Amino acid sequence: MKDLTPAKSTLDPIEIASRDEIEALQLERMQWSLRHAYENVPLFKKRFDERGVHPADLKALSDLSKFPFTEKNDLRDTYPFGMFAVSREKIARIHASSGTTGKATVVGYTTGDLDVFGDMVARSLRASGVRPGQMVHNAYGYGLFTGGLGAHAGIEKLGATVVPVSGGMTARQVTLIEDFKPDAIMVTPSYMLNILEEFQRQGIDPRQTSLQVGIFGAEPWTNAMREEVEQAFDMHAVDIYGLSEILGPGVANECVETKDGLHVWEDHFYPEVINPETGEPVPDGEMGELVFTTLTKEALPMVRYRTRDLTRLMPGTARTMRRMEKITGRSDDMIILRGVNVFPTQIEEQLLATEGLAPHFQIELHRAGRMDAMRVHVEATPNAADEASRENAAQKLAKTIKDTVGISTEIAVAEPGGVARSEGKAKRVVDNRPKEQ
Ligand code: DLL
Repeated sequence: MKDLTPAKSTLDPIEIASRDEIEALQLERMQWSLRHAYENVPLFKKRFDERGVHPADLKALSDLSKFPFTEKNDLRDTYPFGMFAVSREKIARIHASSGTTGKATVVGYTTGDLDVFGDMVARSLRASGVRPGQMVHNAYGYGLFTGGLGAHAGIEKLGATVVPVSGGMTARQVTLIEDFKPDAIMVTPSYMLNILEEFQRQGIDPRQTSLQVGIFGAEPWTNAMREEVEQAFDMHAVDIYGLSEILGPGVANECVETKDGLHVWEDHFYPEVINPETGEPVPDGEMGELVFTTLTKEALPMVRYRTRDLTRLMPGTARTMRRMEKITGRSDDMIILRGVNVFPTQIEEQLLATEGLAPHFQIELHRAGRMDAMRVHVEATPNAADEASRENAAQKLAKTIKDTVGISTEIAVAEPGGVARSEGKAKRVVDNRPKEQ
């Protein structure tokens, strides 16, 4: 793999500014943002008043903990535009995420917000090793999802060439990569596995493509998966994070030279990690739920938005901005099986270490008698698809899950191709347990 480290001179100066400079900018912007939210969004005014806090009370960054949290339900309750802080005509673009239950979460951007959005994705691409003039294959879904159009604008802003493929039509993805010879690909990690399989099906060696880096996000993925994809394509794999409520892709990104967690673009998004039960902020280095306050958003300012994503904050390395560890999972993705907390990423890690099994999986929860039980649907690799190999792989995987995660699972090994494929975010958990009355 080539060294893709960007030249220092190409970075935004704030990315490598001193902590004092970064924090001074954050404080000034946070004071503006809290005032903007309070004066223009009735929900924030009501919440602040109920708590007896006023934007003027924020004298230091640590004062933020006096302010109330915001949650996804607040956006649902004010559906569709009730949390916008500018008039409807000033909204230049709408996005929405469907979620699994209830109404869509609607978000909006002014032209100024879209400018920042483009800048943050461009910065993320630079951190990933992409340079102006290179070509980027964008397989994030276009439409209401922030992935496709968000990545698109950043690629253009960087001065690279965008190929707006969107998700789906996997055979065509391979053809376009072969013919156009892009330098980078942006796609969910689960769909990248799907594309990998299509390369193999067409008999094309994926290590011979023009791709030098893949920028993967929108769902949790492990370092074991990174290794798998880097080996398969002979390219770098870096992590991009974001969420619609705060921006979309480009809230945080890994640096290709270190791959040691994602630098949060702290000049626009202020991160905290809290204890999800008590709501108390925890010190950097401790695990908890990630919370963001936007510092510059005009259309949809967010104050202490609870992401439900679990991670910890760490000091900067390749940049002075702090890093967040690769996301382990979401608190609402966490399965509690007979008292043990399990994340799909833990299953992924063990699966990738098991010979004879492909990296695709889905977890099914069901009721066995009076107990909850977990069945992990996986599939054999083509060279280990006979019954004996499948039985052997199932036993191995069940054992490593038992040894490392501490739960008993049933492993169902399907034929190659037997597990449902994703074209965007993978659905990792299917809950077939009877609903409580
Ligand atoms: O998924 C934005 C995005 C698009 C990020 C493309 C990266 C690439 P939402 O649809 O609102 O926005 O979903 C946000 O997805 O709270 C996380 O749970 C999860 N997520 C996003 N990026 C990552 C990541 C986009 N790198 C939700 N690792 C977030 C783990 C991620 N989870």
